[in-house]
Amino acid sequence: MKIDVSRKLPEYMETLIVMHEEDGVFERTGIFSDALHDSIDEFIKADEFKFGKGNIRSFMRLVKGKKQNVILCGAGQKDKLTQPILKGYMASCWREAIRMKATNIYFHYAFEVPLAELAIGHILAETALLTSYKYAKYLSDYKHHEPDNVHLVYYAKTNRYLNRGILEGRIFADATIIARDLVNEPANVLSPDALADQAKRVALDYGLSIDVFNADRIRRLKMEAFLAVGRGSKNEPKLIIMRYTGNPDKKNSLTALVGKGLTFDSGGYSIKPGNSMTTMKSDMSGAAAVIGTMAAISALKLKVNVVAIIAAAENMVSSDAYRPGDILTSMSGKTIEIHNTDAEGRLTLIDAVHFAIEKEKADRILDIATLTGAAVGALGKDFTAVLSNDDKWYEKLHAASEISGERIWRMPLHEPYNELMKCEAADLKNIGGPFAGCITAGLFIHQFVQDKPWIHMDIAGTAFTDKPKGTDGPGATGVGVRTLTTMLRTME
Ligand code: BES
Ligand code: MN
Ligand code: ZN
Repeated sequence: MKIDVSRKLPEYMETLIVMHEEDGVFERTGIFSDALHDSIDEFIKADEFKFGKGNIRSFMRLVKGKKQNVILCGAGQKDKLTQPILKGYMASCWREAIRMKATNIYFHYAFEVPLAELAIGHILAETALLTSYKYAKYLSDYKHHEPDNVHLVYYAKTNRYLNRGILEGRIFADATIIARDLVNEPANVLSPDALADQAKRVALDYGLSIDVFNADRIRRLKMEAFLAVGRGSKNEPKLIIMRYTGNPDKKNSLTALVGKGLTFDSGGYSIKPGNSMTTMKSDMSGAAAVIGTMAAISALKLKVNVVAIIAAAENMVSSDAYRPGDILTSMSGKTIEIHNTDAEGRLTLIDAVHFAIEKEKADRILDIATLTGAAVGALGKDFTAVLSNDDKWYEKLHAASEISGERIWRMPLHEPYNELMKCEAADLKNIGGPFAGCITAGLFIHQFVQDKPWIHMDIAGTAFTDKPKGTDGPGATGVGVRTLTTMLRTME
């Protein structure tokens, strides 16, 4: 898809999208021909259309015998317009245009958008590319329609900021699509080994360094918790380490991004009921988010140092699988009694976190994981649940989420609940009982972060969706990439 800025409208446009605010007058500014403006006015009157928030309507007119699609979209009240809200309206526009099979689109804001030109360009490209995404790899007779050209009709003093924004928006969208593609790939194709290969491909494309450790190497590192989770599968686990050094001189600044990388989660012997297993190819969405983020920060050349760590495994059932009642010694030396083999993510994450601190010397840790159904129970599918031991860092994440539009909500890091994970035979057990499951899962990981600043993101609800919404879905959303990239920008 080509995306550019145009200062005026040509006489013939196959598809025109016009966004306008609710309260302002839809004035003649000279950008539209009188004939075009007349037919929009006529349509608005006949249809009693109002530019209320997110209202969308389209009609067709003839220009010298040729068909033209016109899409009208309401922006609501201008002073209520934030970046996430605008992204939502733009997504509706693109969906309508795609439905009409538009190939050449002119997009015009008929009001003054209260955002910087950089943001306007960014939002245009990001939303157009993400809304056009479709995972169609395995559909035999399906031809996905996607627009070829998008022209932003905008008069700026210079196109510099709009163009820079478009470039950035494309970087964010491409990186999010890397994550979506990885998650959408089924587990029969995307084994831990294949995930490592994909990470290598991204590393090559984006100039990142990468190491992949096999089971023997992981064993020598004494990551018994991680290894146990993957033992039931014939697809051997892999530890994937990607590095980006954008600021080699800056000491004590290494951020570790730890992504849950379960390429499939059957639950193991604590097996999942059939229905809830169907989407468990998405249990590596944290890993996908981390890989996408690494791509984006490298493309943006951020002056930060980041190491990504993915403990990739498949949680299966076999005579060699780990069992309820097993006691495992994690890399940290802490022992864990398994009370539920379906609480596997935290076992892989704690070894990865310990590795990040001890071997990579990370100064702060962020983990991102499809960790608990309890997170979905508490916040539904629109919010990522977050726990953190560092208010300042959390605020940075929150500010980033208000730009990306990926909503987050903080849960209390209530340390008394550590009691719920005490057990008789080992240092701790891997579940905390029926209540506060999202918090106890976070606390479990917290017990392995030592004194490091730490953020935990539970994306069980936000990573995968069965129906389209905004720029998302159906399928993988690529959640995390845009928020983490935006946050890392503020840590330069
Ligand atoms: N991968 C699941 C969590 C999940 C649930 C992700 C729904 C996406 C959608 C995780 O490994 C899991 O099974 N968690 C258990 C934990 C429980 C056994 C303490 C859960 O949430 O039921
Ligand atoms: Mn599980
Ligand atoms: Zn899982």
